[in-house]
Amino acid sequence: MSADSSQPSKCPVTGQSAKLTTTAGAPVSDNQNSLTAGARGPVLLQDYQLIEKLAHQNRERIPERVVHAKGWGAYGTLTITHDIAKYTRAKVFEVGKQTPMLLRFSTVAGEQGAADAERDVRGFAMKYYTEEGNWDLVGNNTPVFFIRDPYKFPDFIRTQKRHPRSNLRSPTAMWDFWSLSPESLHQVTILMSDRGIPVDPTHMNGYGSHTYSFINAAGERFWVKFHFKTQQGHKHYTNAQSADVIAQSRESYQEALFGKIERGEFPRWDVQVQIMPEEDADKTSYNPFDLTKVWPHDEYPVIPVGTLELNRNADNYFAEIEQAAFSPSNIVPGIGFSPDKVLQGRIFSYADAHRHRLGTHYEALPVNAPKCPVHHYHKDGAMRFFQNDTGNPDVYYEPNSFGGPVQTETYAEPPLKISGDADRYNHRDGNDDYVQPRALFNLFDAAQKTRLFGNIAAAMDGVPDFIIERALGHFDKIHPDYGNGIRAALKRPVKNDTVTTGPDAIPVPAK
Ligand code: NDP
Ligand code: HEM
Repeated sequence: MSADSSQPSKCPVTGQSAKLTTTAGAPVSDNQNSLTAGARGPVLLQDYQLIEKLAHQNRERIPERVVHAKGWGAYGTLTITHDIAKYTRAKVFEVGKQTPMLLRFSTVAGEQGAADAERDVRGFAMKYYTEEGNWDLVGNNTPVFFIRDPYKFPDFIRTQKRHPRSNLRSPTAMWDFWSLSPESLHQVTILMSDRGIPVDPTHMNGYGSHTYSFINAAGERFWVKFHFKTQQGHKHYTNAQSADVIAQSRESYQEALFGKIERGEFPRWDVQVQIMPEEDADKTSYNPFDLTKVWPHDEYPVIPVGTLELNRNADNYFAEIEQAAFSPSNIVPGIGFSPDKVLQGRIFSYADAHRHRLGTHYEALPVNAPKCPVHHYHKDGAMRFFQNDTGNPDVYYEPNSFGGPVQTETYAEPPLKISGDADRYNHRDGNDDYVQPRALFNLFDAAQKTRLFGNIAAAMDGVPDFIIERALGHFDKIHPDYGNGIRAALKRPVKNDTVTTGPDAIPVPAK
């Protein structure tokens, strides 16, 4: 049934309204009046239909995602237009192949009822239903992230969520963490730039962000980064515009995405990859597995791959978008992981989150179920609603003599050379946190820089002085004009030893 259908459901044979039944299928004689002793009550315990109705309502909510709780999604198609077989044997990348997929966009920090047009990183989570299993690429609209060690993820997220005492978002916590974690500067600069508030999910890029691996038919490994470039063009709101939008509607993304797809205005993205030969990983000036870094385009140019189009709305938001479970652990032959520490942490975290949020057999829910045959030996537990013994009850263990599913050695990845002593290495040692944010800062024109300074100053409202000063010290190191521009926006004295006048001068934002 279409989501906007206002017609009561009719039996297709008789044309009559369907008969209301209990969940056990028995007809319901009265769905208006409780069963009572006398017209004034009390209600009788044997009115199990009333009890069922109230009990079901009490169980209609599941835990919201611990992060990325507010989301908007749709189905689409990946079409491959360019041959990249020399890098990967993944069937999803065969030229001409069309693969059905689901994409869920999200904000990170807000709860399910948060306003859509808030300044935040946007999630860009994709599930490709390939013929060799589901490939999930769970990315963001930014090519980098705030942290480079998964140990820091729960701490970082604490600073984005509500303060335990005030129950308010805390700019102090955010800037305290960021100013003590200079690896976050690159992502903070993107977040505070114009791209921090896209007007809707169709006007932004997506990135796989992490480095993954490709394995080709000859068993050779390449490192790969995935890019999804909007064909709709980048469009963003300023802080003032987003405040106006939120005053009118907290659901502006849902309205835009759902509306466009209902009208047949299907959004599209150019799909591109950057490829690094396996042995280059030891040669780059930066760690190519560091999630706070991009691979500069002049070193590793983007290679066209295909087009992603969103073209179908879900019929039921809860069943298909809320119950969607994406996990970076879902890879397919020809696509693999990398040593990126944050990716390694995520390989564990998502499936664990899904078992808590949705239950043990979340992969068997229709929206998550692969569209290819599935044969595994995971068996029972709550809500085992699928058959996987294909009529042969003797194949509940492996190896067995009864024709149960077996491994296929040809899918093994080539060995990955690893070296080093097991230890807790300081991830800040020998890692520059300023060069790439500087490259980004230098891309911005004067007006973009002015808005960046104003956005950061606004986000620092109420933050203690010592934290602001610590943060300004980092912005100075990216570029003296960066620190001074924020100082000017904060109405603080600029530092004399930095450039704020002359041909490179940056306009001071109006308060
Ligand atoms: P390039 O000039 O070759 O690439 C610049 C990239 O920056 C483009 O991908 C462009 O995306 C993107 N970009 C432009 N404006 C903004 C903005 N306001 N916020 C975020 N991204 C923006 O330079 P490099 O490859 O040497 O990278 C320079 C810097 O650009 C990096 O340090 C990084 O901050 C940023 N960047 C780099 C990417 C990469 O993979 N190399 C990817 C995205 C950002 P678009 O094509 O959509 O306009
Ligand atoms: C959602 C953990 C980093 C993108 C989630 C969820 C968890 C999580 C537990 C909720 C899953 C659910 O309940 O469905 C982590 C951890 C990280 C990390 C532990 C680092 C150690 C990242 C990074 C990106 C990212 C680097 C992007 C590059 C997303 C997206 C979602 C999400 C897009 C929403 C998925 C959806 O739409 O259902 N993350 N995350 N996360 N995360 Fe992460």
